[in-house]
Order: sequence, then structure tokens, then C-alpha cells
Amino acid sequence: MKNNGLAFVLITTVAMVILGAGLSVFFSRFMNLGGAGTDTAPISGPNLPPQAAPIQEPAAALTYSPPSPQDAPPAIREAVLLGYNILLETGKYATPYVGNKLSCSNCHFKAGLTQGGKNGGLSLVGVGATYPKYRKRQDYAVDLVTRTNDCFKRSMNGRPLPEESKEMTAIVTYYQWISKGLPVYAEIPWLTIKPLPSTHVPDKTRGEQLYGVKCSACHGKNGEGTAAGPPLWGQDSFNDGAGMHKPVNMAAFAQLNMPLGNPDLAVEDALDLADYITAQPRPHFSAN
Ligand code: HEC
Ligand code: HEC
Repeated sequence: MKNNGLAFVLITTVAMVILGAGLSVFFSRFMNLGGAGTDTAPISGPNLPPQAAPIQEPAAALTYSPPSPQDAPPAIREAVLLGYNILLETGKYATPYVGNKLSCSNCHFKAGLTQGGKNGGLSLVGVGATYPKYRKRQDYAVDLVTRTNDCFKRSMNGRPLPEESKEMTAIVTYYQWISKGLPVYAEIPWLTIKPLPSTHVPDKTRGEQLYGVKCSACHGKNGEGTAAGPPLWGQDSFNDGAGMHKPVNMAAFAQLNMPLGNPDLAVEDALDLADYITAQPRPHFSAN
């Protein structure tokens, strides 16, 4: 009897200790789900799905320098360098697919090897980590081949590259190289155009006057381009299906980058200019 009683007490004590340890592990894990601070622990209950831990991604603080094309390892160096050259001199390295006098780098400065912002043009650093994307509006998935061919068909007023071509492989390999080490689907703050915050109603007439003062010296009186700047409209420029043909995009691009080297346009100036330039004649985009 005495022994039985002692055994019972012992077993109960051991069971309580194990249960207690188990519960404390369970609760400490559970509480940690919300992150470091206990005051941010998620409110949960029997009817609430467990909340996932917020992904710690300091997007604004992301710093990154892309490796230079010349430093690509031997196995991919030839492709990376060809991709780089196609972006810099598109008409020379991808001749049959280009229908105007532009190069990718006229918009994606330095073959996209910048980090956007003032004087950076449209960066391509990190695109290798941000695709494929899904476009709800069109209900289709876009990968970098499709996206690149969009710029060939519209920005370059040309033809799509065959998916398996040496040139397309080179361009995509180049994107991957200049995205090396970035986390897949990271928030990359320097990618994509940010529309200018403004309620200004654009004024074409004022845009035309500004064009003569600020732009025509390099881009030509009729937007045809000069040795100092590529065409902005007319047969040698991008077509009306291009991203740059949208006034919001052109205004944001011009405000950060034009006049080249010394961008000083007020937001209203940029909107007036974009309204004027996108109203000028240019090739028409047809889907087929
Ligand atoms: C000092 C010469 C210069 C001036 C002035 C200038 N640009 Fe440019 N612009 C360039 C050059 C050069 C490029 C291409 C940059 C490159 O290839 O790296 C360019 C590119 C562009 C592009 C994209 C490529 C294209 O042809 O569509 C747009 C749009 C543009 N400029 C708009 C403007 C606007 C608007 C103004 C007036 C506010 C302006 N630029 C003033 C030299 C100039
Ligand atoms: C006339 C200007 C212009 C030219 C030339 C141009 N692009 Fe673009 N490109 C754009 C614009 C505008 C966007 C859309 C940017 C955005 O959505 O923020 C874009 C987007 C892209 C993107 C997707 C970037 C992202 O962050 O999602 C890729 C990739 C790209 N272009 C590749 C090219 C290549 C390769 C060429 C040359 C064959 C080229 N582009 C020529 C204007 C141009």
C-alpha cells in the first residue's frame, strides 16, 4: 500500500514535469510566431487561422551592387557579354528584330546596370529575381522572355526574338547575372516606374514651348533625334504600344532623367512635355 502510494506520487510528478515542459515549449514557439516583441504577438483563437510570421524584408534598405558582365564565370561569360552588347547596341547585335533607331539602353541606361533614381534611367538590376509575374488584367503569366519581346515589339517597333534563339538566351542569362544573389521575389525598390504624384492637368501648348527650350537641341526640332539624343517620335522612334508612350511613364522618366545629365523639370513641366510628345505621330503597334 505504502509503496503503491509512493509510486503513484512519483509517476504523477514525472508526468506533470513532462507535460509542463511540453506546454512551455509549445507556448514559447506559439508566442514567437509574431516576431521578437511579445506585444506584437498575434491574437489567435480557436476560430482564427494561425498567422504566418511577417517576412523580414527591409525593402528600402536593400543595398546591392550587380557584378560586372566581364566577371561572369567562363560557362556563361559569352552569353552574358552578348546580352550586355545587345542591350547597349541593339540594332547592331539583334539587327533583324529592331524596327527603329533606338537601343534598349536609351531607356534602360547602361544596359540597365543602374539603380534607377535620378540619372539612372530604367534599371534592370534584379529582374532575374522578380519574374515570372502574373498579370491579372490580361490573365496570363509573363516571364522575362515575354516581357523582353514586349519591348522588342513596342519600344523597338520590331519583331519578337525566337524563344530559343542565341540572342534571347543571351539576354536572359545577362539578366540572371546582374541579379545574382538577390533573394527570389525580393521587393526591389529601384525597379518599375513610380508615377509622379500630381493632380496637374497637362497643357500641350506649354509642353511644346518647353520642348523647344529644354529638349529639341538633342532630340531634334521634330523629335527625329540628333547625334546628341535618340528620336522621341516619328518613324525611327518607339510605337504607340510602348510603355514610354503612356504619358504617366514618360513624365516620370523625364522628370528623373531629362535634360540628360542635369534633370531639372518641375513635375508640371514633365507632365506638360509628356502630353505634347505622346501626341506626336509615331508608328502604330499592331498585335499581329
Ligand atoms: C543633352 C542632350 C539631351 C537633352 C537636352 C534631352 N535629352 Fe532626352 N535623351 C538624351 C540621350 C543621350 C538619351 C539616351 C541616353 C542613353 O542612351 O544613355 C535620351 C533619352 C530620352 C528618352 C528615352 C529614349 C527615347 O528616345 O525615347 C526620352 C523619353 C527623353 N530623352 C526625353 C527628353 C525630354 C522630354 C527632354 C527635355 C526635357 C530631353 N529628353 C532632353 C539626351 C538629351
Ligand atoms: C523607349 C524606351 C524603352 C526601350 C527602348 C526599351 N524599353 Fe524596356 N521598358 C520600357 C518601359 C517604359 C518599361 C516599363 C517599366 C515599368 O513598368 O516600370 C520597360 C520594361 C522592361 C522590362 C521589365 C522591367 C521590370 O522591372 O519589370 C524589361 C526586362 C525590358 N524592358 C527589357 C528591354 C529590352 C531588352 C530592350 C531592348 C530590346 C528594351 N527593354 C527597350 C522602356 C523601354
